[in-house]
Amino acid sequence: MAHMFVPGPVDVAPEVLQAMAKPMLPHRSKEYEAIHRSAAEKAQKLFYTQYRVYLGTHSGSGMQETGIRNLVEKDVLCCVNGAFSKRWYDVAVSNGKNADKLEVEWGKAPMPDDLRTALKKKHYEAVTIVHNETSTGVEAPLKDLCAVVREVSPETFILVDAVSSLAGSKIEMDAWDIDFLLTSSQKCLALPPGLSLAGVNDRCLQKAEKVANRGWYFDLLLLEKHRLKDSTGMTPVIPLIYALDFQLDRIFAEGLDARFARHAAMSQRVYDWARAHGMSTYADAACLSKTVATINNDRNLSIPDLNKFLMEKYQMRISNGYGDLKDKTFRIATMGETTLKDVDTLLAGMEAFMAK
Ligand SMILES: Cc1ncc(COP(=O)(O)O)c(C=O)c1O
Repeated sequence: MAHMFVPGPVDVAPEVLQAMAKPMLPHRSKEYEAIHRSAAEKAQKLFYTQYRVYLGTHSGSGMQETGIRNLVEKDVLCCVNGAFSKRWYDVAVSNGKNADKLEVEWGKAPMPDDLRTALKKKHYEAVTIVHNETSTGVEAPLKDLCAVVREVSPETFILVDAVSSLAGSKIEMDAWDIDFLLTSSQKCLALPPGLSLAGVNDRCLQKAEKVANRGWYFDLLLLEKHRLKDSTGMTPVIPLIYALDFQLDRIFAEGLDARFARHAAMSQRVYDWARAHGMSTYADAACLSKTVATINNDRNLSIPDLNKFLMEKYQMRISNGYGDLKDKTFRIATMGETTLKDVDTLLAGMEAFMAK
């Protein structure tokens, strides 16, 4: 039974938590390296890539910084349509890069035509795109955006943040020609927080060789050196690697397409329910997220009171709107192992609150 309808951290299955409780191993040991290799190889299947997947022993934001430090010497274009895409722009600026924004109204997605225009005006080494804007519940048309980059500026690196969608929505790294694809553990992967993953193609390593001041902790060449030995340069978050290795088997046992269909059905259920109860979606109908629904609080519900009620009666909670959207919107995340039945229980609880 899911309790956390918040966009991360989400519920973790008891058996996954149990997988973390195994004795520690030295990270420079054959036993640890075998588990690290196993998890990283399984992750390639989830990323739909033949290239490497790094296991970062830090949260997803560190991978945003990794992409910027290694793949951008000067000019980067950041598609900004919410708080997390804006954060990637801030990461670029704070690392001394010339970052331009392709700014899109909150609630909307960056569109291929706008990206085409921006790329025709100026040459960029890289473009950053957030696939699923968790602050607004918007899913970007990623495949089409990638195609535009390849059409207008084929050598530009495509950096994608799929922190709140990978493992919940299908993203084909190689087929869509994404160079750098990152995610975090605490959302659709349904693991505890603290681990991030990044799929990185060969072109990225060739570029990193030419970029100065990549730093140390996030240096792709250092990460690669240790990845070739099935480990990390620094002490990894070993319990989370155990959990990842275990959880990926559970994910494949469900089947990736079945998992994506479950997520699409759960979010659709939330959108249909909201409309049927007089509440509209914050995000444009054309770009609704499949993992976190952002609903306009058209009925002026007190979100703190609603959550208090849900916690007392069902041990469930939803999320208030992000930043300035607090109380104007609320968010219902349907990530990880959440089921349609859980969603129905939550929505029945919300109806009970509204009927009070
Ligand atoms: C789309 C997106 N990008 C990046 C982040 C930051 O991830 P982390 O908290 O794992 O650093 C989040 C966190 O919610 C997110 O939703």
